[in-house]
Amino acid sequence: MKFIDIAKNRYTTKKYLGGRKLDRDIIDQLKEILRMCPSSINSQPWKFTFIEDQELKNQLALSSRHNDERVRNASLIVVFSAMNEVGIFEEHLTKNLPPRALDYFTNNIKPRGEAEIKVWMQHQVYISLGFFLAACASMGLDSTPMEGIIRDDYDKALGITGYRTMFAVAVGFRDPEDENQPTITPKLRRPLEDVITEK
Ligand SMILES: Cc1cc2nc3c(=O)[nH]c(=O)nc-3n(C[C@H](O)[C@H](O)[C@H](O)COP(=O)(O)O)c2cc1C
Repeated sequence: MKFIDIAKNRYTTKKYLGGRKLDRDIIDQLKEILRMCPSSINSQPWKFTFIEDQELKNQLALSSRHNDERVRNASLIVVFSAMNEVGIFEEHLTKNLPPRALDYFTNNIKPRGEAEIKVWMQHQVYISLGFFLAACASMGLDSTPMEGIIRDDYDKALGITGYRTMFAVAVGFRDPEDENQPTITPKLRRPLEDVITEK
């Protein structure tokens, strides 16, 4: 399928068919796709937690506000976390990346201070969200990005330390009755001339 068609047909799934598992090969591909995601200076300040276990999904559903049903019924929940300690991030840069990455960070990002460094790391994690949603659609998988979760509860339930949960994505198969799919509810987008400028 052409990417333009993927963009027009993917949508935020609100209702899943429960009880359907993803093939192991698909899960492995999703992991590798996330690992391959681009980031500024190749910083990769992220962690992705894959959850298929029904009991854990049920537990997380209790901390997922209006998304509870999606978390319970989707085949897979992926939790996206950002590195949350500048010292650990610098250690990672020094150990794993060419010196120019650390130089760039030291000269351009670090002077902004701790709060902005964390926001910068979180921006990278959001890039992986777009990458992942497009990948899911290209693989014929339905998905739901979810910021509407209680992040502290997720950190606690998953034992996440040194990182901070940003959002989660449900992945699976839509209930054919899901009213949010574009064939039932057309996509709502700003007009092209409002969002694109040519000079
Ligand atoms: C960062 C982010 C967080 C979102 N959080 C939620 C959420 O918690 N629950 C939900 O049902 N949809 C959530 N959405 C879905 C948006 O509402 C949706 O993408 C938007 O309305 C456009 O619709 P479409 O994805 O169907 O094209 C989120 C989307 C993004 C990008």
